[in-house]
Amino acid sequence: MKILFYDTKNYDRESFNKQLANYPGIEIDYLKGDLAPKSAVMAEGYDAVCAFVSSDVGKETLEVLDAHGVHLVLMRCAGFNNVDLETAKRLGIRVLRVPGYSPEAVAEHAMMLALAANRHVHKSYVKVRENDFSLGGLMGINFYQKTAGIVGTGKIGAAMARICHGFGMNVIAYDVYQNPSLDFVKYVSLDELLSRSDLISLHCPLTEENYHLICRDTIQKMKDGVILVNTSRGGLVKTDDLIEGIRARKFFAIGLDVYEEETANVFEDRSDEILEHSTTARLLSFPNVIITSHQGFFTEEALAAISQTTLDNAVAYEKGEASPNEV
Ligand code: NAI
Repeated sequence: MKILFYDTKNYDRESFNKQLANYPGIEIDYLKGDLAPKSAVMAEGYDAVCAFVSSDVGKETLEVLDAHGVHLVLMRCAGFNNVDLETAKRLGIRVLRVPGYSPEAVAEHAMMLALAANRHVHKSYVKVRENDFSLGGLMGINFYQKTAGIVGTGKIGAAMARICHGFGMNVIAYDVYQNPSLDFVKYVSLDELLSRSDLISLHCPLTEENYHLICRDTIQKMKDGVILVNTSRGGLVKTDDLIEGIRARKFFAIGLDVYEEETANVFEDRSDEILEHSTTARLLSFPNVIITSHQGFFTEEALAAISQTTLDNAVAYEKGEASPNEV
């Protein structure tokens, strides 16, 4: 099977090439450009395309792929909101994805954000580089015996709950379903979680119902001096209300790996752009806010799992096997 791989980064190539030794029937050609109607014509002669969250897998692209005889889209990510599934179905194009790759990668990043924001590592790092070893502005709190509130206890939320438990925290959670593996967690209502937690970490998917879950109303219900971490989706938090809360000194610290302004080009190097009017830039102006670049998933183990599952999906398709990863 020949796969044309779009939007290749060096780390993608390395991780897929490492796996290829175990998949003798598969060949991959890597393209830097992303999948879009114009670049889809390049897939002529290939059996499959490999795409990502940033790819345009809409109607037009799928029609071009169909016209060039390509009927398999391998998404190397969990999300597929950028795929026009109706058109794919109509054209007989199958779409397979990687539903979960390393919940611990994201949970560890969430705890890192909580710790770094709490102990002001971002400030301390800069101060020490300037030869300033004073402790002013660096005081944090102990996590031990504090209350962690986990919103969403699926794969990632459960991993975060275990980490918090390991820190000696009391772990409470809110979810529409309870996770039976978390016998140390007490499930409570969202209001109770908001009012009791010293650390709130968001791990639910973004849906129509929970869009702007964290807004003026819910922020007011939180404890003063709470630490908030969001590694899920930017739309869970209403940024303007968050900024209002920061100004009102509601938060001890905030760690964000995702933010409302994230667009398809979130993984691009945008260091030469001036983001002066963006709400992300406004958030960055507060000393108790740490922001990372949607990198929660970005570990060697997670990338290995992504490449392995993507190639397994290709094999399943070739063998005509049904796959739970099909969307
Ligand atoms: P999952 O599907 O295993 O768990 C999600 C949990 O959230 C489920 O238990 C579900 O019942 C619960 N839930 C749904 N709606 C809810 C609501 N309104 N309130 C409370 N709980 C609710 O998903 P997983 O793998 O744990 O991923 C969670 C989220 O993490 C993803 O949806 C994604 O947005 C984000 N993510 C972030 C990454 C990063 O790099 N920062 C990487 C991968 C995922």
